[in-house]
Amino acid sequence: MKKEFLDLGRQPIANKFLREDEFKDEFFYNLKVVFDDDTKLVSLKDFVKPELMFNDDYVYHTSLSVPMIKHFKETAEMLMKEFNPLTVMEIGSNDGVFLKNWANDYTIGVEPCGNFAKVTEDMGYQTYAEFWTTELSEKIKNDGHVDFDLIYAANCICHIQDLDECFSAIKNILSKKGIFVFEDPSLLRMLERGSYDQIYDEHAHIFSVTALDNILRKNGLILFRVDNLSVHGGSNRIYVRHANILTDLIPEFVRNNLQKEKEFGIDKFQTYEIFAERVEKSKEDLCKLLSELKESNKKVLSIGATSKSTTVFNYCGIDESLIECITDTTPDKQGMYSPGSHIPVVDRESVNLNDYDYVFLGAWNFKEVITDKEKDFIENGGKFITHVPEVTVFS
Ligand code: TMP
Repeated sequence: MKKEFLDLGRQPIANKFLREDEFKDEFFYNLKVVFDDDTKLVSLKDFVKPELMFNDDYVYHTSLSVPMIKHFKETAEMLMKEFNPLTVMEIGSNDGVFLKNWANDYTIGVEPCGNFAKVTEDMGYQTYAEFWTTELSEKIKNDGHVDFDLIYAANCICHIQDLDECFSAIKNILSKKGIFVFEDPSLLRMLERGSYDQIYDEHAHIFSVTALDNILRKNGLILFRVDNLSVHGGSNRIYVRHANILTDLIPEFVRNNLQKEKEFGIDKFQTYEIFAERVEKSKEDLCKLLSELKESNKKVLSIGATSKSTTVFNYCGIDESLIECITDTTPDKQGMYSPGSHIPVVDRESVNLNDYDYVFLGAWNFKEVITDKEKDFIENGGKFITHVPEVTVFS
């Protein structure tokens, strides 16, 4: 039984930055969110066709984010030390920021965006430029690969619409004692922080440990460890094994995570109704603040042309008249316009921040990094705006 609790309105493809001549053909869909009473999974009501989101034009290069390079290097080192896998596969290998930490003769990638699959092939890693399916897992086996000791995926499994199919494909190619490790934004952190902008087309689901525990069990897999991470505004790293390896005993730290979620009411529909009210209030507050700033002729720009800000700008009806431009370090986004809201995206180096009065934190998840880099702006009287956990102005 899937119950709708949130309607974020008409939304474009969150990561599809466009040229002016593309505005007229832009694709939009209705972004609504549902809660499944049975598995406790939170998902989009209507999924967007994967090919519209993940294709050769995909612009999110993980390796352009310095904090994420460090994150993936440390993750690889920890997995090597603690589990010492002989064979490794990454699903959603992007531009190889995780893969490059492993020797390429026993590591492969799976990446449907052809532009990135080519990058990792050129780095020497065999990369399947396809979506993750049971059929692909069979093809990899038929190509002579043995089952994998480590299957890793970051910010990818929550993109996969059919989770039963995804997990059974994993089970098909995970070695007997192998581990499947994946990390995605945490539903609990989203609900605690009011960060509704974690919801966009690519995030077909926002995972709780509770829902994953239910769905993995159904597919003959067992969740045996959870690491709570700070990346992407609060994520969980989930460790999974074949169900027959462990007894049904749930380790204490997993139990604590499940308990914490239960105490928050993650299994109750009412929790989501309260969240929806908070989201509506966030929209009212942000629209009011930006309109007042406009009336008093204050200049506002945004830092970080994120998928998250696509949700905020389109839900709140924010356009160039309220936020003049967005700076972003990704070259492929520069010179383009933001999806739906059509705000120009520019290189940070091309603007003098001191010409602006306020900076909206589109990449609020990098608040410390950005405010630290932009100390000069604050010293000159500039102020930041964030909408997480509440709409706030700070300096
Ligand atoms: P993410 O929140 O999905 O990781 O995206 C972060 C975006 O913000 C990405 O396009 C890079 C950009 N960015 C900046 O423009 N300046 C910065 O200082 C940081 C950390 C990120």
